[in-house]
Amino acid sequence: MKMIKTYIVTVFLGALMWSCQSDQGQHEDETPQSLREAYADDFLIGTALGYSQLIASSEKEQALIAAQFSVVTPENMMKWERIHPEPYTFNFGLPDSLIELASRNNQKVFGHTLAWHSQTPDWLFEDSLGNLIDTATLFARMEHHINNVAGRYKGKILGWDVVNEALNNDGSYRNSKYYQIAGEEFIFKAFEYAAKADPNAELYYNDYSMNVQSKVDGAVEIATKVRDKGLRIDGIGMQGHWGIDRPSIDLIEQSILKIHDAGFKVAITELDIDVLPNPYRIEGANISDSFENNAEANPYADGLPDSVNQAHAQRYEELFKLFLKHKDKIDRVTFWGVHDGHSWKNDWPARGRTNYCLVFDRNLDPKLAYDKIMTLKSETH
Ligand code: G3I
Repeated sequence: MKMIKTYIVTVFLGALMWSCQSDQGQHEDETPQSLREAYADDFLIGTALGYSQLIASSEKEQALIAAQFSVVTPENMMKWERIHPEPYTFNFGLPDSLIELASRNNQKVFGHTLAWHSQTPDWLFEDSLGNLIDTATLFARMEHHINNVAGRYKGKILGWDVVNEALNNDGSYRNSKYYQIAGEEFIFKAFEYAAKADPNAELYYNDYSMNVQSKVDGAVEIATKVRDKGLRIDGIGMQGHWGIDRPSIDLIEQSILKIHDAGFKVAITELDIDVLPNPYRIEGANISDSFENNAEANPYADGLPDSVNQAHAQRYEELFKLFLKHKDKIDRVTFWGVHDGHSWKNDWPARGRTNYCLVFDRNLDPKLAYDKIMTLKSETH
């Protein structure tokens, strides 16, 4: 107990020191000292937190999380298979700790995710013989889940990725078990139950490859149908698992405009910039894609060449210029992980690679990309 208290006090002091430096900086030359401070008038700056950030994290990492981010998303711990693995078993321990951490850090929490085809146990969709259940049974199970999960965090959470990745890239519906059982109706039910469970939470549809225009059209169509049914939906999340030179800024901008013009908020929900070669020729973030690791696919295991680091930083700068241009439309920009060592991109689409996707390195030090996006703001201050 004593150790835990000492730990909390140390982390608190660390974050306080960081924010005091910021305050001093503000007095002296008005230069912001953290991402959350620099972008405070533009949009929330977020990160995803996993088990290791909550349980096995260093004081330096805790202080960084507290100082740099204004919103946090549970990377895995609120997914169905983690939070509700058996019909009558809920694992609220880690998610509760995340909510407490965010509250101590004066951060908002964005919940992820209530209805997703992946990381969801088979029992949701099947009867005791392994056959797909009927629509009414699916809806009853979804309502039970959403009531318990979104209901528990009612008032403590900014919003939810209510439905995640329901589309193929051509804008058609993914043939998930949800879809096989209930067609598109499962989407409307998820939004209906979420709005009932937490009437003040912001409700989002979230997907990857949202630069593909047929996909963003599909997402806007979903959101419009939800709204036309008299249900509530606030925004559309563009995940942002992108590369150094793809997709083009123009395509991303077109998507932001389409979402906004249809009357929905935009969030960049899972931003990371992959620097590794793509011999597998895949796009997006379909977690079931899996390939062999080899030297050709993992060229920077011993360090990142300066030229690639520069290109990575320039890409972040261009993206944040775009986000600032559309800050009236964008509510949140969340990085998918705290630092390079934490990123899922080290293990996808091939396990055990060394990627450099984020703006903090494996030692938790800010990278050139961080300096670029901070400089963007000090230039406009
Ligand atoms: O915790 C276990 C560990 O006990 C085990 O030893 C290890 C060996 O495989 O696996 C660990 O779990 C992994 C988990 O990440 C934590 O690292 C899972 O296998 C792995 O599948 C899981 O991947 C997550 C993935 O979603 C699937 O849920 C990534 O962390 C997470 O970043 C990723 O996030 C998704 C978003 O939710 C939706 N959009 C796409 C995005 C990237 O796929």
